[in-house]
Amino acid sequence: MSDGQAPLVVLLSGPNLDLLGERQPEVYGRAQLADHVAAAQEEATRCGLELEHHQTNHEGELVELVHEARRRAAAVIVNAGALTHYSWSLHDALAAFDGIVVELHLSNPSAREPFRHTSVVAGVAHGAIAGFGGLGYPLAVQAVARLLAERSAPG
Ligand code: DQA
Repeated sequence: MSDGQAPLVVLLSGPNLDLLGERQPEVYGRAQLADHVAAAQEEATRCGLELEHHQTNHEGELVELVHEARRRAAAVIVNAGALTHYSWSLHDALAAFDGIVVELHLSNPSAREPFRHTSVVAGVAHGAIAGFGGLGYPLAVQAVARLLAERSAPG
């Protein structure tokens, strides 16, 4: 990270996000996960960041991906899908990650069913981007870039 290489951003996608494009398009849109990852990738390149993406439908695997980001990544951007609302193991893994954490959602969970109004990720994230559809992916990368620039600014 401090050896002159571009800072690494790990983008994590949780359960059912592999079905984007087919799954409830009226809520999540018609774009596929690969389209959102490409938009995030493009923004990362523009901001001088390296981006790596992983998707899993398994809670434990998501926890392990956060562990793998430790000491390697400057930031984690996570759309944890429904795990957002109840996965305390994901909360604890993110709490053990030293870098920047951005919670990301395509939809605005606060404007949906009551079970989506709780986020167990929110308390261990620097901030959240939700409700902007696919635009949220480049926005999340931009947020990371700005926070990293602030951190490395003198004074
Ligand atoms: C989501 C919102 C969650 O409530 C839901 O379970 C998802 C997708 C979003 O991106 O809007 O799977 O994280």
